Amino acid sequence: MNPDTRSFALGSYTSHVVFYDSVSPLSISNASLVVCDTHTEHIVETCGGAAHAPRIVLTPGESEKSMPVLESILRTAVEHGLSRGDTILGLGGGVVTDLVGFAASVYMRGCRLVLAPTSLLAMVDAAFGGKTGVNFAGYKNMVGTFYPAAEVHVAPSVLASLPEREYRSGLGETIKNALLGDEDLLGLLEREQEAVSARSPQVLREVIQRGLLVKCGIVEQDLTETGIRAFLNLGHTFAHALESVAGFGTWTHGEAVAWGTAKAARLGELLGITPLAYRTRIERLFSDYGFRLHAEASHERLIEAMWHDKKLKDGRLYFVVQSGVGQTQLVPVEPETVREVLRD
Ligand SMILES: NC(=O)c1ccc[n+]([C@@H]2O[C@H](COP(=O)([O-])OP(=O)(O)OC[C@H]3O[C@@H](n4cnc5c(N)ncnc54)[C@H](O)[C@@H]3O)[C@@H](O)[C@H]2O)c1
Repeated sequence: MNPDTRSFALGSYTSHVVFYDSVSPLSISNASLVVCDTHTEHIVETCGGAAHAPRIVLTPGESEKSMPVLESILRTAVEHGLSRGDTILGLGGGVVTDLVGFAASVYMRGCRLVLAPTSLLAMVDAAFGGKTGVNFAGYKNMVGTFYPAAEVHVAPSVLASLPEREYRSGLGETIKNALLGDEDLLGLLEREQEAVSARSPQVLREVIQRGLLVKCGIVEQDLTETGIRAFLNLGHTFAHALESVAGFGTWTHGEAVAWGTAKAARLGELLGITPLAYRTRIERLFSDYGFRLHAEASHERLIEAMWHDKKLKDGRLYFVVQSGVGQTQLVPVEPETVREVLRD
């Protein structure tokens, strides 16, 4: 194995991202506590020294991202006598990385955090960038911290056991990241659709690495989302509304992001920002990867849900729109214009 490590300065933190080649197994030696779920425990068994550390195995699913589960992780850390210099390893999808990130950020005011994302979505998005959290009082990610991991280990080989629908969900975010800043990745996703869908080792590492590096470049400039980090929310105002109106779990997050990004392209077109050819390119790519671009949902309920989203500023709805790859802006939009997009 010849891992390629990149380091990123995130505020006062440094995050090292270790990119493995497409076939090498994860190798993490030093962890005092490992948190995974029943779907990812088999990966812990083969990840080196960390396999012998005390382990918490969660039930898979979004409902684990909760205060009671957070408390149980902290309690276990205390029971095992972890100190501030000890490492907690979170190995799993975005649910595990968000939850373990939060636990590490508050344990003794911050112990060492290492993350090993095992879903494509967590690799290109959730595990890097320091946003941690749990769902609270019925709202997603209502309580959390900014706490970048000291190390993020990205090993494409662990995706072998990821269910097909979860893999495609991650491709939704990967395509979105490509739109935000990597024309070459976009071209690769267009040309190599069959190989990417088949998780071919020839393309997998490059797709993941490039997808993640777009996010790294943005977060490095704006850890706490006071500016351009908001661009990562491309498609998300539509997506979050659809997820909540359709019922969480009906659409995976990545499926909703694909639908939302296509809607954002149409919105940009209506506003005179997005050229028709760019919108068509986006829609074709999502369709080629099998994403649904049509949703059966009440337009009024979707708009109502958008008003509850975190993207509301000064009582106005803001949307991320683009005039081309890497040419992104945040604009206020009237509800009537959103209605028109939903009617299309
Ligand atoms: N912090 C951030 O910046 C950020 C960004 C995006 C999403 N998120 C969060 O991430 C979560 C979604 O992440 P997700 O899509 O990874 O969901 P998830 O963690 O629920 O994983 C999806 C499913 O795949 C399973 N799984 C994961 N890796 C596997 C593997 N290698 N083999 C077999 N099964 C595997 C999981 O057990 C789960 O059943 C949400 O809670 C979302 O809020 C956070």
